[in-house]
Amino acid sequence: MLTIQNLYAQYGAITVLKNCSLHVDEGEIVTLIGANGAGKTTLLSTISGLIRPSKGNILFKGKDIVGLSPSKIVSCGITQVPEGREIFGPFTVRENLEIGAYLRHRKERDKTGIKRDMDYVFALFPRLKERMNQPAGLLSGGEQQMLAIARAFMGRPRLLLLDEPSLGLAPMLVNIILDTIKELNKEGLTILLVEQNARKALNVAHRGYVLETGRIVLHGASAELREDPEVKRAYLGKDYKDISERGQ
Ligand SMILES: Nc1ncnc2c1ncn2[C@@H]1O[C@H](COP(=O)(O)OP(=O)(O)O)[C@@H](O)[C@H]1O
Ligand SMILES: [Mg+2]
Repeated sequence: MLTIQNLYAQYGAITVLKNCSLHVDEGEIVTLIGANGAGKTTLLSTISGLIRPSKGNILFKGKDIVGLSPSKIVSCGITQVPEGREIFGPFTVRENLEIGAYLRHRKERDKTGIKRDMDYVFALFPRLKERMNQPAGLLSGGEQQMLAIARAFMGRPRLLLLDEPSLGLAPMLVNIILDTIKELNKEGLTILLVEQNARKALNVAHRGYVLETGRIVLHGASAELREDPEVKRAYLGKDYKDISERGQ
């Protein structure tokens, strides 16, 4: 579904992504793990068209999407849920979901379909249902993350790019979010999941890639990566405390 070949991206004179190649097949959850500053967000933003790569190809369903505007890329079926969420604070939860539905493909903009998906996300996130008439800005961090994912789902993307959905959340909420990611994947959504929480990410993903200072240094099935000595040492070791567990 998504194929990235020999991708380079830079900010000014500084090259942040170096010769990255990866692919995500239809129906998969693929995780991209790596330390803070490795280039994970840059990679997602390059896919979304927010950053133009200096070299390389990004093919989505066989079509080269490099150079397309971010909105055009959304209409191809790719939606990014950014780190920091960016929900519309003054609007209610329900309004945020309705705004999400504007991104649906023309053929899927029917009222019944939208209602069905809205019921689905409320069943998935009962907390959002309880608070549907409240301004989104009043939600807790975890609820805002749920809303950001739910809003993206309302647009019926084909590929969802999630940037550190667990960041700053208490462990229990992290589990809820990751369970939901699995649930959405069962609904047919293909997902590229960026995480610092490598342990949890490798538990939900089918495959994973490890990004180190802009280079993909390892990739494989999640089960293999979990057993890889280098991954264990750098990302899963006893001393490695992920952000969601820190200070709890
Ligand atoms: N807008 C920017 N301008 C200049 N440098 C940036 C910008 N955004 C990120 N960087 C740098 O690029 C590198 C990768 O950042 P980022 O993709 O955000 O990493 P990650 O998401 O893995 O933490 C870091 O060294 C960061 O400081
Ligand atoms: Mg980031």
